[in-house]
Amino acid sequence: MYPAMNSNAMQSANPTWVVVGKGAIGLLAACQAQLRQWPVALWLRQPQPIQIDFRQLTQEHSQHHFSSWPVGTPITHIFIAVKAFDVQSCLQQLLPHLSDDAQIVLSHNGMGTLEPARALLSSKQQLWFVSTTHGAYKADKHQLIHSGSGQSVLAAVTAPPKPDSKVQQFVADALGPVTEVDNIEPCLWQKLAINCLINPLTALHNIQNGELAQAKYQPQLKQLLHEVCLVAEAEGYPLHEASCWQLVQQVIEKTAANRSSMLQDRRANRPTELDFISGFVLKQAKKHQLTLPAHACLYQQCQDAGF
Ligand SMILES: NC(=O)c1ccc[n+]([C@@H]2O[C@H](COP(=O)([O-])OP(=O)(O)OC[C@H]3O[C@@H](n4cnc5c(N)ncnc54)[C@H](OP(=O)(O)O)[C@@H]3O)[C@@H](O)[C@H]2O)c1
Repeated sequence: MYPAMNSNAMQSANPTWVVVGKGAIGLLAACQAQLRQWPVALWLRQPQPIQIDFRQLTQEHSQHHFSSWPVGTPITHIFIAVKAFDVQSCLQQLLPHLSDDAQIVLSHNGMGTLEPARALLSSKQQLWFVSTTHGAYKADKHQLIHSGSGQSVLAAVTAPPKPDSKVQQFVADALGPVTEVDNIEPCLWQKLAINCLINPLTALHNIQNGELAQAKYQPQLKQLLHEVCLVAEAEGYPLHEASCWQLVQQVIEKTAANRSSMLQDRRANRPTELDFISGFVLKQAKKHQLTLPAHACLYQQCQDAGF
């Protein structure tokens, strides 16, 4: 595990990290990295300077100023925490601006973006993925709240032509503590197994996570979990169903008062990541000729509800 770096230990030759967008996780990474002396600039749909009042977990506030990355300068290090459905278009837009040996770090919920992303990049450009349990939200345009302490798992998705320790150091400072693993897939399947139960159900029924503890949801949750475990196993990433069930119960209990990201997106009338969560599970099941009645039914109900 890599702890966050002490700012005194920071070397002067740190590259500027470009963070895409002005969303919650991107700005969380940007503010925390800036607090630890990393140069950070933003890649925005409309280039403009941005001021952020950041409320840290300690309740301390810090003020952050970010400028937009100057178009024309090749990007060597980029952190992309956009919704899963935006990854492909975002990468396509960025491609002409990336250096030949750019380090590209993706972070989002759901699965299904890595193959298409890999296909877009050249063999010298290095793709990474960070899965994080940190929580953040924007109270308004200029206020970012770090709402939940978490940790992150980092893995190289493409084999490194030459290892770049600036990636591990940045992720440790931006979203640490971080554990580096050889393969991100087992971690992503584990997270997906929880998300594909809690996200669509809470969004469909317009309920907080804790309400899923009610007896009436238990048989459906159990069947959804059983089905996703079948798919993970067929994909070569077996999950221990009983441990996952315990984890589901823990998440429901510990985040009882939270609204899942899919519920928040529904309430705000924004597109959801359903296709990269339940949709991905169903797509992989089809590949293995598995039928998943509980997921198929829930996915259809979500679609009928306009997700
Ligand atoms: N927030 C959390 O606590 C949390 C925790 C763990 C995981 N996650 C996951 O992390 C991912 C990001 O979540 P988030 O809450 O940070 O989402 P978010 O607030 O919606 O942030 C995404 C940002 O990226 C911007 N964007 C997308 N494509 C872009 C492009 N081509 N150029 C410039 N900007 C672009 C979006 O701009 P527009 O708004 O203009 O589209 C938006 O500002 C999601 O998969 C989420 O499920 C979130």
